[in-house]
Amino acid sequence: MKPASLFAYPAATICLILAASAESRPFSDILKSFHIPQSPLHPPNPFANMPPADETVSTGVIISDVIGKTQAIAIFSGLTRDIDSVSSRLDDASQNATVLAPDNRVMRDLKRKPWEDAEDYNTFGADAYQGKSGEDRAHKNLRRFVERHIVPESPWEKDKKVKTLDGNEVWWESKDGKKMIQPNNIEVTSVADKVSNGEVWVLGGSLV
Ligand SMILES: *[C@@H]1O[C@H](CO)[C@@H](O)[C@H](O)[C@H]1NC(C)=O
Repeated sequence: MKPASLFAYPAATICLILAASAESRPFSDILKSFHIPQSPLHPPNPFANMPPADETVSTGVIISDVIGKTQAIAIFSGLTRDIDSVSSRLDDASQNATVLAPDNRVMRDLKRKPWEDAEDYNTFGADAYQGKSGEDRAHKNLRRFVERHIVPESPWEKDKKVKTLDGNEVWWESKDGKKMIQPNNIEVTSVADKVSNGEVWVLGGSLV
C-alpha cells in the first residue's frame, strides 16, 4: 500500500513556495494564498539540510535573497514582496533591518486577515473591500500589517526601544534564553537568517 501522506505534503508545500516566490501579485492572488488547503502544521521542510543560519553572517547576501527560502514563513515573506516600501528596503544592501516574520500557522490563524480592519467594516459595511476603493483600502491595511513587522535596524540590541516601519514601538527581552518581543510578549521561535543587511526572525505570534 502506498503511504498516501507522503504524496499529500509536497503539493501543499509547493503551493506555498510558488505563492511566495511570485515577484508581484495581483491582489486576488494575495487573497488566494490564504485559501490554500490546510496543510499539516509541520510539513517536511525542503530546506532542512541547509546549515543553520544562527551562527554566521553570510557576506554579500541580503535579506531579499533569502527571505523567500524559509518555508515556515512563506505566507509572510510573500506579503513583503507585495509592499513596495518593504520590498525595496529588504533589497537595499545599505539599509539594515530586522524582519519579524510570523510563521504560516500564525498567518492562517489571524482573527482578521491582514488587509482587514474592523473600522472599515463599521464605516463601509460588508462590502468594505469591494471595488477599486475597497482594494485600495485593503492594500493600505496590508501595508500597515507588513510594516509593523519590520524593525529598521540590525543588529537590534536587547531592551532597545525602536519604532517599526509603521511607527509602532517595540523592544525585545530575553526570558529563559528566549527572545520575547514586547510589549506583545511574542516569542521569537528561531532566527532564520543572518545576512549582510540584517536578520530574519521567525515569530510564534503577530504584532497586530
Ligand atoms: C548592518 O548589519 C551588518 C551585519 O550584521 C553589520 O555588520 C553592520 O554594522 C550593520 N550596519 C549598521 C549601520 O547598523
